[in-house]
Amino acid sequence: MPHTPGAMPPIEPYRVKVVESIPDPTPEEREAALVRAGYNLFNLRSGEVRIDLLTDSGTGAMSDRQWAALMVGDESYAGSRNFFAFEETVREITGFPHILPTHQGRAAENLLFSALCRPGTVVPNNMHFDTTRAHVMHNGSRAVNLAIPEAYRTQDPHPFKGNMDVAALEELLAREPSGTVPLVLMTITNNTGGGQPVSLANLREVSGVARRHSVPLYLDMCRWAENAFFIREREPGMSGRSVAEIGREIFSLAEGATMSAKKDGLVNIGGFVATRNPELFDRMRETLILFEGFPTYGGLARRDLEAVAVGLREAMDLSYLQHRVGQVRYLAELLDARGVPFLRPPGGHGLYLDVHRFLPHLPAESLPGQALVVELYREGAVRTVEIGSIMFGDGPDPATSSDRPPLELVRLAIPRRVYSSSQLAYVAEVVSRVFERRGQIRGFRMVHRPERLPHFTARFAPIDGFG
Ligand code: F0G
Repeated sequence: MPHTPGAMPPIEPYRVKVVESIPDPTPEEREAALVRAGYNLFNLRSGEVRIDLLTDSGTGAMSDRQWAALMVGDESYAGSRNFFAFEETVREITGFPHILPTHQGRAAENLLFSALCRPGTVVPNNMHFDTTRAHVMHNGSRAVNLAIPEAYRTQDPHPFKGNMDVAALEELLAREPSGTVPLVLMTITNNTGGGQPVSLANLREVSGVARRHSVPLYLDMCRWAENAFFIREREPGMSGRSVAEIGREIFSLAEGATMSAKKDGLVNIGGFVATRNPELFDRMRETLILFEGFPTYGGLARRDLEAVAVGLREAMDLSYLQHRVGQVRYLAELLDARGVPFLRPPGGHGLYLDVHRFLPHLPAESLPGQALVVELYREGAVRTVEIGSIMFGDGPDPATSSDRPPLELVRLAIPRRVYSSSQLAYVAEVVSRVFERRGQIRGFRMVHRPERLPHFTARFAPIDGFG
C-alpha cells in the first residue's frame, strides 16, 4: 500500500527531459472561467486548468524514441515507409492482415459502422463508449449494452467487470432475426463502466457464441494493453505470460478491431481499423479515401504513423504498465483513506468517483455528476468529466438508444506518463476537501442541450437550493 509509512510510492519508470509549466488560476479566475464556460469544463481553456484529468486520450507524453521517430518522417503521399513500419507493427501485435490508418478512434468507428450498420440493426457491446454509441446510432442501429450485472454495482469487487453477460448475448442473438446483428463488439477495457477489464475466458466465450451465430466479433481495442495487464495479474494461469502473448490470444478471437492510438498507442493523434475480411476492407478503404485520405496515411502526417509504431510497443512494457495501473491504485488508496466513494476496483486508466454515494442528497435530475465536476474545478482547478446521465442521456430518439440507465460517475482520467505521484496526492487532497463539504453542494440544470453527444457542448446553470 503506497500510502502507508515505510512503503514505496509508485516510482515513475522514466525521468523528465522537458518540462511544461502548469497554470495556477486564483479562486476568482476559476469562478469567472466557470461562468464563461457555462459550467461545462469542455469549454475551459487549458490555461485555466491546473491538473487536467478530463481524458487520457491524446494527452500523454511521448518518449524520446517517439520524438526521434517523428524525425524519420517520410511525407510521401503514397507508399511512405512510415506506413509500412506502422502496418508491420499492428500486424505483428494483432495478427489482423488488413489495416487502415485513421486520424483517431472515431474515424475508425465511422469506417466500420458505416460499412456494417443499417437502420433496424442491433449492435451488442459490453458497454458502448459515447462516440461508439453515437456512430452506431448515426447509422440507424440500436446500441445495446450487455455487461454482466456486477458492472452496474459500483462496490462489487469483481476482477473483470468489463465482461459481457454471455447468456444475454446468446438470448439476443437467438431472438433477433438473422442479419439484424451485423457485429458483436467488445470494448477492452470497458471505459464507460470504470476502465474495467474483460477476462480472456469471457472473450473466448463471447467469440464462440458469435461464431456459432455467424456474427463477426470486433474489439474496441483502445486500452488493450491495460486489459492484457489485468488479465496477467488477475486471471488464473496468466501470470507467466507476456502482455504481447496475451494480446495475440485476445486478437485471435476476433475478426477485427477499431483503435484510438491516442490511448494505448501512446501518441497525441492517430488510430486504425483492422480486419481479416478482405471484402469489408475494400469497402472501408473507399470510404477512407473519401473522408480521411490515401490508405498509406489516413488523415495523419506520415511521421505520426512512425510514432504510433513505437508507442504501440512501448505500451506493452511491463514496468510502464505496472506504474500506470499503480498510479490509479495510488490515487484510490489516498481517497479510500479519506472515505471518498469510488467505483471498485480502480480502473486501468482512471479512477471513477461514485456520484450517488458522494452526493446522496442530490437527485439524478439535478445532475449531481456535473455538480461534482464543477466543485473539483472550483476547489483546486482540477478538470474531470461526468460519465453518466449527461454523457449517456437518452437524446432525441429513445428508440435507438441503450436500454439500461447509465452509471453515475465522475472520471479522473490519468494521462499517460504526465503527472507525478505528488501531483496525484494534490488531486486526492482536492477531492477529499470537496468530499468534506459535500453537504453544501447544489445541483445544476441544462440550459442548452445539443442533439448529439450533449456533454461536449451543453451549457448549465446552478439551481438555487438543492434541486
Ligand atoms: N472507444 C473508446 C472505448 C474510447 O474511450 C474512445 C475515446 C473512443 C472509442 C474514440 O476514440 O477519441 O480517438 O476518437 N475516448 C476518449 C475518452 C475521448 O476520454 O475516454 P477517439
